[in-house]
Amino acid sequence: MKIGIVGTGLVGKTLATKLAEAGHELLVANSRGPASVAESVGPTVTVTAASVADAFACDVAFLAVPWIKVRDVLATNIPREGGILVDTTNIFLSYPPNARIDDLKGDSGSEIIARLAPKTFVVKAFGTLPFATMFAPHAENVKRVLFVAGDDKAAVSTISDLIAEIGLQPLALGSLAVAGRQMELGGPLSALELLAPVKREA
Ligand SMILES: NC(=O)c1ccc[n+]([C@@H]2O[C@H](COP(=O)([O-])OP(=O)(O)OC[C@H]3O[C@@H](n4cnc5c(N)ncnc54)[C@H](OP(=O)(O)O)[C@@H]3O)[C@@H](O)[C@H]2O)c1
Repeated sequence: MKIGIVGTGLVGKTLATKLAEAGHELLVANSRGPASVAESVGPTVTVTAASVADAFACDVAFLAVPWIKVRDVLATNIPREGGILVDTTNIFLSYPPNARIDDLKGDSGSEIIARLAPKTFVVKAFGTLPFATMFAPHAENVKRVLFVAGDDKAAVSTISDLIAEIGLQPLALGSLAVAGRQMELGGPLSALELLAPVKREA
């Protein structure tokens, strides 16, 4: 699959590496432009350095930028109509150790993104655990659970398949309005690490 990633911080570069290793074609963008992407992602993985517009033109695009940049990115670039936009963001105004969380007054980050990109299917995933934890080693007989939320079943299924391909156990929980809020910073599923037993072949 052709997959776009916007952001080459820890989230963007880790997902680019894992998805490229799984055999996908990656178009990766950041704010500094294509010339800086290879340096950010590193030499061990083959990805195509792209503009944000090109990354957003893919059928699946991951939004891996700071929350405070989301409006700018989506105001200046339009994700593919009918495409899947994966929201990996957390609603930090500033990161830990001086963390400040945005007060959305009852709204949620993913629903705001869905309104900013109304022609896409937004799926929320990859925000509930620090990336240092998400791919940390664990026993062989378990998989780390990754919660997924979205309003379109087919889009959630597509992203769940990608999550499984990179070694995690997807757990689709429901809509952005309900499950997405539970997964958001401060919600009961944020920072919750679960390990699921791997099913043995009969
Ligand atoms: N780090 C984690 O463990 C973790 C876990 C779960 C969720 N998250 C969330 O995932 C998102 C990304 O986290 P991160 O740690 O990877 O962030 P980060 O290190 O701050 O990197 C952010 C990336 O976004 C890019 N960016 C910023 N503005 C942009 C713009 N206007 N156009 C294109 N690219 C732009 C930056 O480009 P440059 O490289 O050119 O500056 C950078 O590559 C955040 O919302 C974070 O809260 C993080």
